[in-house]
Amino acid sequence: MPLPSLARIPAPPDPILGLAETFRADTRTGKVNLSSGVFVDDTGTTPVLQTVIEAERRLADAAGTKLYRPIDGEAGYREQVRALVLGADHEAVTSGRALATQTPGGTGGLRVAADLVRSTGGGQTMWMSEPTWPNHPQMFHAAGFRVRTYPYTDPTGLRIDEEAMLGALAGASPGDVVLLHGACHNPTGVDPSPELWRRIGDVIEERRLLPLVDLAYQGFGDGLREDAAGLLELVRPGSELIVSTSFSKTFSLYAERVGAVIVIASSAADAAAVQSHVKAVIRVNYSNPPAHGADVVRTILADAELRPRWELELAAMRNRIKDNRRLLVSALEARSVPGNWSSIATQRGMFALLGLTTHQVARLRDEHGVYVVGHGRINVAGFTPDNLDPFADALAAVIATS
Ligand code: LMR
Repeated sequence: MPLPSLARIPAPPDPILGLAETFRADTRTGKVNLSSGVFVDDTGTTPVLQTVIEAERRLADAAGTKLYRPIDGEAGYREQVRALVLGADHEAVTSGRALATQTPGGTGGLRVAADLVRSTGGGQTMWMSEPTWPNHPQMFHAAGFRVRTYPYTDPTGLRIDEEAMLGALAGASPGDVVLLHGACHNPTGVDPSPELWRRIGDVIEERRLLPLVDLAYQGFGDGLREDAAGLLELVRPGSELIVSTSFSKTFSLYAERVGAVIVIASSAADAAAVQSHVKAVIRVNYSNPPAHGADVVRTILADAELRPRWELELAAMRNRIKDNRRLLVSALEARSVPGNWSSIATQRGMFALLGLTTHQVARLRDEHGVYVVGHGRINVAGFTPDNLDPFADALAAVIATS
């Protein structure tokens, strides 16, 4: 019996990507996929950005090489990403105490961060919001963490229960890791205010916790700098934290798996030492990173003509999502669907959480061909002129007969 017997028992499907597989296999016409967080245009397709096409043309003309890349990625990419997240003039950048590493997407960055902490004797407990992205608990559990949750939104789901959140974090032990969503909280779309970020920073400092910030949507909320402002509240003199970022959504480079992990240590010397451990955990995992996506991102960020064009493309995606939010609220209110929907219009990022029961989610799928994630998380960026009304009709029908 060469394979372990447990391997013969099928694993449960992934709560998000598993749905995409079921959706693909669904033969009904008019099916609607609002499950995984991907941006689509009015025709329902996910276009390659014009700046990406131009960068790829330049890269092809330059006829580079397919040699291995450095374990932590190419220096130009690492520098651009660090400046994009923290700001080129930030003290953590100019002092050299923040160092970036290329990773395979944001998920890869989170996993590298987890392996770094576990392999160097860091805290074993990871605190995360309830609710959070479904891959967070399973990923950090797989990496050897004990997962604990802190309360996030209040029972309405529309506001953060600040005292409950801070109270839970005040009970964390020194060295524990606190996972925070940098912007565009997944799944709720509800982000901390600047004042709450300050208070979170205070608790982290007092309790000597290690923040790990998941920044997968920088620029999808209010803007590039605006969406990094919260995490910058945590970058205080001498403070230490880890940020994982992703370019899947903001460069529409989903399939290229390009992201980064940024470690901010208290000094440049410590950062250099930590970087050696980052490289060690990568070497025993995927060895070194793929080149193409990082080359595209670096080409765009470093180019005086392409970069502002990309920022316009990013703004167009952000504005389309905001428009979709308003259109969704209007569609639900026009049908008098019971519920308080108006705040969906002012939430941030790709997702909204409708607070549905498991049964309602199943009925949407089985009776109407509408795919949403658990508790009714919807990808607001997935609405088109063709699927918005069918979705609103389906939701109205399911809620009316629940
Ligand atoms: C999502 O939350 O839908 C995205 O981040 C895609 C994914 O990998 O789950």
